[in-house]
Amino acid sequence: MRIGILTAGGDCPGLNAVIRSVVHRAVVGHGDEVIGFEDGFKGLLDGHFRPLDLNAVSGILARGGTILGSARLERDRLREAAENCEELARRYDIDALIPIGGEGTLTAARMLSDAGMPVVGVPKTIDNDISATDRTFGFDTAVGVATEAIDRLKTTAESHQRVMVVEVMGRHAGWIALESGMAGGAHGICLPERPFEVDDLVKMVEERFARGKKFAVICVAEGAHPAEGSMPYAKGAIDQYGHERFQGIGNRLAVELETRLGKEARPVILGHVQRGGTPTAYDRVLATRFGWHAVEAVHRGDFGRMTALRGTDIAMVPLADAVTQLKRVPVARMDEAESVF
Ligand code: F6P
Repeated sequence: MRIGILTAGGDCPGLNAVIRSVVHRAVVGHGDEVIGFEDGFKGLLDGHFRPLDLNAVSGILARGGTILGSARLERDRLREAAENCEELARRYDIDALIPIGGEGTLTAARMLSDAGMPVVGVPKTIDNDISATDRTFGFDTAVGVATEAIDRLKTTAESHQRVMVVEVMGRHAGWIALESGMAGGAHGICLPERPFEVDDLVKMVEERFARGKKFAVICVAEGAHPAEGSMPYAKGAIDQYGHERFQGIGNRLAVELETRLGKEARPVILGHVQRGGTPTAYDRVLATRFGWHAVEAVHRGDFGRMTALRGTDIAMVPLADAVTQLKRVPVARMDEAESVF
């Protein structure tokens, strides 16, 4: 068989581990050939690809990013791929395509699959918000980075009697904020799933200071937002169109808390540092298992599906299930953390 593979959407620690695993299973296990398209679906459409043999994937298991490059999707080009998918499969002489990506990529994978391309998807996102799988690789790494940041911020916060507001990734779901906040012992956690009252955060910090703990760390997901009217002081800059502009909730919340508490507050935006660098052992193992099962699915002809972690097992689930809805943090998980506002 000849299998095509690509990585699309935002990168994520563990992508290289999937690529390596697919090549090992396909080449060693089945005697297949593998080609890798560069920069996601763009490479598929524009004919940018390279053969992937054992040497090509040697030494990449622990490397962050993706050796194939990645790009976000342009809708029109995606439609072009779906309309021409039979011709594309013929052009590259591939029997199957394994796209690795998040919600957008899996939606694209489903479109190609519906149009007749033999596709097996592999989910990825540091946000862990794909509902059809219990976990995505990259999440464990991101939580580790954010936890370390919270640990470090606590010591400097304490030295200066400050409030630190650390903003982590998670536009639509607050899994990274929840788990790094729990692991790092953040005093406040704010998630996109629940609008937070700034009054409650102010009260919490004041109570801490009153009992002699003269610092606080608040972990806020980038997609978290305050309850209506609960942040009256931190107004954004007015741009040339008269619109208020904020550089993220972390900056805005730090300004609001400093004003209301009369204590120094500092924002720390972790950003893409959470997505870079070497994957944890957990993410390498999950990514490797996904790659292995994707190749097995190709050989069974189990197309239109993606790999998923269900409990401790890897299952194949319909691509349609992957993209129906995002997996958000349920209230029960917020309750366990104690410090979600
Ligand atoms: O979806 C993964 C993610 O890391 C989000 O948490 C974040 O909002 C986004 O990607 C950042 O995207 P970009 O790399 O395009 O800035």
